[in-house]
Amino acid sequence: MAELVVALDVPGKNEALELAGLLRPVTPWMKVGLELFTAVGPSVVSDLKALGCSVFLDLKFHDIPNTVKGAVRSAIAAGADICDIHMGGGEAMCRAAAEAAARSNSGQGCLLLGVTVLTSTSPDEIEGSLEDLVRKHAVNARNWGLGGVVCSGHEAAMIKQACGVDFKCLCPGIRMPEGGTDDQSRIMTPAQAVRQGADYLVVGRPITKAADPLAAARAVFANMVN
Ligand code: C5P
Repeated sequence: MAELVVALDVPGKNEALELAGLLRPVTPWMKVGLELFTAVGPSVVSDLKALGCSVFLDLKFHDIPNTVKGAVRSAIAAGADICDIHMGGGEAMCRAAAEAAARSNSGQGCLLLGVTVLTSTSPDEIEGSLEDLVRKHAVNARNWGLGGVVCSGHEAAMIKQACGVDFKCLCPGIRMPEGGTDDQSRIMTPAQAVRQGADYLVVGRPITKAADPLAAARAVFANMVN
């Protein structure tokens, strides 16, 4: 069964923890991204864990290998259950990050994912085939020791075929049938993404900006299991 991960893209810790507490009965998985992390720092990860949540720390590291290795180590020390790096960083960076994830002695294990092509990117912004580029990044991620990738639901089935069913696909760009797209481009409904083989569905604004976030989260979950 796929997991629903709520993107807590808010600027304050209180707001984030309130949302997490409210939504925790629907899903334990919360995503801390650049906005929240930059505003409040790593303590929000342990605060979320104290609420019984699991945390995807989505900071998309992309730097020289030694720096990214240290950043992954720090993400794991902060308590991240999942963290991610940009596949554009290349082989040495990815292998260094994978080594840090494998060596983590936090005892909890951290799933390291590679960001392929952002779900806000449309095919006409890429030279050549977007699907081929995503496949190349996914195969590299598997060969270089990562546990999965961040991709759109449109690529999940192809990635599972190329990299194996145990290789994880985490998919943002999820929208309800009646919802708008915001700044996302390669979107899918929750049910479609699950059918394509997504292991984790990341949903932010359709839940967090809804008039009733709990009802919205329940509706996304119901659509997933449909
Ligand atoms: O609000 P929305 O559902 O579009 O949020 C999607 C979340 O997933 C955002 O926090 C965004 O940063 C993140 N994300 C993404 N595409 C990626 C990787 C992460 O949209 N490829």
